[in-house]
Amino acid sequence: MKKVRKAVFPVAGLGTRFLPATKAMPKEMLTVVDRPVIQHVVDEAREAGIEHFIFVTGRNKHIIEDHFDRQYELEATLRGRNKWTELAQLEEDTPKAGATSFTRQQEPLGLGHAVWCARDIVGDEPFALLLPDMLHLGAVPCLRQMIDGYEKTGGNMIGVYSVRDDETHQYGIVDVGGSSEKVAKINAMVEKPAKGTAPSNLAISGRYILQPGIFDLLEKQAKGAGGEIQLTDSMLTLAKSEPFHAVHFDGKVYDTGSKLGFLSANVAYALAREEIAPDFRQAIAEILK
Ligand code: UTP
Repeated sequence: MKKVRKAVFPVAGLGTRFLPATKAMPKEMLTVVDRPVIQHVVDEAREAGIEHFIFVTGRNKHIIEDHFDRQYELEATLRGRNKWTELAQLEEDTPKAGATSFTRQQEPLGLGHAVWCARDIVGDEPFALLLPDMLHLGAVPCLRQMIDGYEKTGGNMIGVYSVRDDETHQYGIVDVGGSSEKVAKINAMVEKPAKGTAPSNLAISGRYILQPGIFDLLEKQAKGAGGEIQLTDSMLTLAKSEPFHAVHFDGKVYDTGSKLGFLSANVAYALAREEIAPDFRQAIAEILK
């Protein structure tokens, strides 16, 4: 079984749900506490052992490339001021030379198309796909939990989490035949099932491990919902010939592409930081009085 060494981050979307904040600033650079959303997701991938980080960017997204580059002037200034903690943090956050690749999706034709844009950089090996606006907060990072599962089953994996029964129509839902196992074989996937028809309440969380066969399918994939090339459509075809497993993530998932999800993520991530949490708890109590 080939190791999962590479991760793809599609960051070419327009972020229309978050205008006007995202007019000039990519939504992936909005901060949750003091780190851009994309940094949280790259941290997750690195902690799972990913060695190469592939960003599918678009127009107005060059700031993401700058964020993952070294900043000599800033480093020299921090050194001159003996700010060793900040310097060490910058060092830790910046991928090593040659460990990043950037390609552009010239038109936002959908998530499936964005993933297909990474085909030559990924090559003929399994890869992780992380949707950067979905933040996963848990004791063990989501992709780590998935790679641990993948090492036992191989094939394709999808991260899932439990949502309320009255919310299932908003998500991609998987059917695992009622299994309560952490890693369970997927029998079926449905994108945004009509109310009351979902086979389970397990929603696709924006984390995947995919085999490279997905690229041939994406290349031929016709436009689907919303006139976009949908990843789910090609995954459904791939699932006819290759196994897919769901990994039930132990933790909380926040959709930072929505206002409510973004605000909730900021609260949850601040409360998870022991140097901020006590004062922040007090500040919230004051506001709620
Ligand atoms: P979303 O649909 O959540 O992102 O896509 P969006 O289109 O940027 O947001 P809204 O709905 O207009 O507010 C999920 C992920 O896929 C990427 C997005 O950047 C996001 O990380 N994506 C989406 C692309 O890279 N290209 C696309 O054509 C569409």
